[in-house]
Amino acid sequence: MGKKIFSGVQPTGNLHLGNYLGAIKNFVNLDNDNDNECIFCVVDLHAITVKQDPKELRNNIRETVATFLASGINPIKSIIFNQSAVAAHAEGAWILSCVARMGWLNRMTQFKEKAGKDKEKASIGLYSYPVLMAADILLYDATHVPVGDDQKQHLELCRDIAQKFNNDFKLENFLKVPEPLIQKEFSRIMSLKDGTKKMSKSELSDLSRINLTDSKDQIINKIKKAKTDPLPMPQDIKELDERLEAKNLLGIYSSLTNSTLQNSVKSFAGKNFSEFKVRLGDELVNKIEPISNEIKKLLGDKNFLDKILLDGVEKANNIASKKIKRIKEIVGF
Ligand code: AMP
Ligand code: TRP
Repeated sequence: MGKKIFSGVQPTGNLHLGNYLGAIKNFVNLDNDNDNECIFCVVDLHAITVKQDPKELRNNIRETVATFLASGINPIKSIIFNQSAVAAHAEGAWILSCVARMGWLNRMTQFKEKAGKDKEKASIGLYSYPVLMAADILLYDATHVPVGDDQKQHLELCRDIAQKFNNDFKLENFLKVPEPLIQKEFSRIMSLKDGTKKMSKSELSDLSRINLTDSKDQIINKIKKAKTDPLPMPQDIKELDERLEAKNLLGIYSSLTNSTLQNSVKSFAGKNFSEFKVRLGDELVNKIEPISNEIKKLLGDKNFLDKILLDGVEKANNIASKKIKRIKEIVGF
């Protein structure tokens, strides 16, 4: 039987190679399988958990749609929509926030990372963010949720919330407990400047990431400047535990070429990083440049992108409004 897929990406700009290899590439594979029903959401309600410039947010919503299309998601087969346009998400999040427990949310490491030292100043939305994410998924009875490794904990919380809701109201399987789809390998792409930090939109240095809108020259330059270590390329996969930058670059290469880390290590063992970087740059340009060009082209036709969203909103609303209606009846409204 096919899977019901739901996933979301925040329209916060600078979609990068980590988003692509960790999540979007997987969306495309799932979308290409005709047995699956896929819903891809531009999670604009999540985006405003940290301050956004309204004009930029509007642009970033369109850019995220353009990125989905440019990466190969078919909007005729799959639903692409923005979260804020389907009221059930905000309503569902409120009801589920009365099911979720403080103790569960207090364990979320992403909040701790994002809120930083000054937790008192973080928005309440940033704290309850995973509850909104649970509503997103549960409104559509999603069976599988493709995400990068950093979202694993949020999905576990979503499963706990679904189970508690079902138990509290003595319903079996009303909210479907979803399975995470996290790639076994390369599900966490690290910064090009620091192998201990995840590649991220919010990192100050643009040299730390490959953006999906980067040009050929930018990609090659960033790979040239990517951090490595003074030794030749590793001879054995075991060395990678100690050589995080080499591990990350070899991981990116393996993911792009659909090879195993073991084989990539073998291909470049003992060589200079500079030789490897030329090959890696070529692979990246082959993959990213067409996506980048297509994003730019699509952004020239805002009406087309808005139309995709409008169609998606209608289809998503059809599903979510029925589920939220049942949820409201169940809780006694
Ligand atoms: P976000 O941009 O935070 O909305 O993330 C969108 C998707 O990209 C999520 O599934 C994340 O898990 C994934 N993702 C973000 N950063 C990375 C990374 N550095 N490595 C792998 N996956 C990532
Ligand atoms: N929290 C996810 C992220 O930052 C985005 C997201 C929101 C999501 N709702 C979702 C992912 C539902 C999967 C399913 O990456």
